[in-house]
Amino acid sequence: MTSRRKFIKAGLLSGLTAFPLASYSNAPAFDLQEHVQDDLYTRVRKQLLVPPNRIYLNTGTLGPSPLPIIEKVAAITRQLEANPGPENFGSLNSEIEQVREKVARFIHAERNEVVLTRNTTEGLNLIAQALHLNAGDEIITTNLEHGGLEVGLDFLKATRGVTVKKIELPLPATNPDEVVRVIEKSIGPSTRMLVLSHVNTITGLVMPFHALSKITQPKNIFLVADGAQAAGMMALDVAHMGVDAYATSGHKWLLGPKETGFLYLKKDFQEQVKPVFTFSGFTAYSASSGTRNVANLIGLGATLDWHEQLGVEKIQSQTQTLAAYCLNELKKIKTITILSPEELSLASGIVSFSPQTIKNNQVAEKLAADEIIVKVLPQLNGIRISCHCFVSKKDLDQFITALKKALPA
Ligand SMILES: Cc1ncc(COP(=O)(O)O)c(C=O)c1O
Repeated sequence: MTSRRKFIKAGLLSGLTAFPLASYSNAPAFDLQEHVQDDLYTRVRKQLLVPPNRIYLNTGTLGPSPLPIIEKVAAITRQLEANPGPENFGSLNSEIEQVREKVARFIHAERNEVVLTRNTTEGLNLIAQALHLNAGDEIITTNLEHGGLEVGLDFLKATRGVTVKKIELPLPATNPDEVVRVIEKSIGPSTRMLVLSHVNTITGLVMPFHALSKITQPKNIFLVADGAQAAGMMALDVAHMGVDAYATSGHKWLLGPKETGFLYLKKDFQEQVKPVFTFSGFTAYSASSGTRNVANLIGLGATLDWHEQLGVEKIQSQTQTLAAYCLNELKKIKTITILSPEELSLASGIVSFSPQTIKNNQVAEKLAADEIIVKVLPQLNGIRISCHCFVSKKDLDQFITALKKALPA
């Protein structure tokens, strides 16, 4: 086993934020083939409806569902539509309850801490609407968050008079201790809550939540994670992260049915957050939830089974390895600026960059003409590449070649 392979393995085994501190900067040339698990790529790629000539690098926006998930949703829809009322509120209702159990296992929580939602935004909004905060209370976040997180903070500002402090992190960040220090320094006597992305939507930075929780817990500051870009990309352990709440979506890296998600609310935190949506209980269906989309929710459960069968850590290792390779290749291009961290403990399956002399959407359009699908970031003239395990080295090489062609000489 080479040292780099040991390195990646050690990081995975030791949990989310415990990669050994090191950088790729001075590392020898990265031999991706040595690390990539071809069996995983082959098994997953052929289950997708993405045509063979399309290179899909935009899972961070929406992931392509594998056929077994699509077929599960279709089968449940057929069962439901044969006898809607009795099916929905009979056996299918028991099945959606089991999805909460699956989510709880997937994130290391308890079933009574899990709410099935429609997406990350809804999960974060439930907190924003119901959290008891007073005028003058301060919430800390960063200046590079997704609108789905920001809208709840805007709501709290407008309706409760809270203050929202948006801190700037080093770009790209190079050291987790530095990230923690910047956030710690911003905490003041009125700070009541930190709301941060687990994996940043723009840079892909993995927030060192475990270290942050050691600072917030003694001060009784709530710690809330936006996990939209993390679930399905990496193993999740909300207990180890030390968060009070974790909201995510099923339709991104999990590759699950669209308009699915879940919200973790730690037992102690539930006293602080009592939205109408869970007033009649946390069950998937309740008087306060109203009728649910049982086919999609059962499909979400099937998605979690699918991940467990493939191996969550295997998927994590593959995405991080692919992203490290992608970043290494992008670094060789002189007319772009890398936005993502190289440092392994901060790096994820997302790699972003900013073209220096051309608009991001012009580059994305040229790539799309070659059937290479990337995400144009509204901020920083950025382009985001999502390296899920169904992406191959060949796909990334093709992307790099097409990118060089799309950039001005
Ligand atoms: C970090 C982050 N938060 C929230 C969202 C919103 O996700 P959803 O539309 O599934 O609610 C996204 C979507 O890209 C995201 O990247």
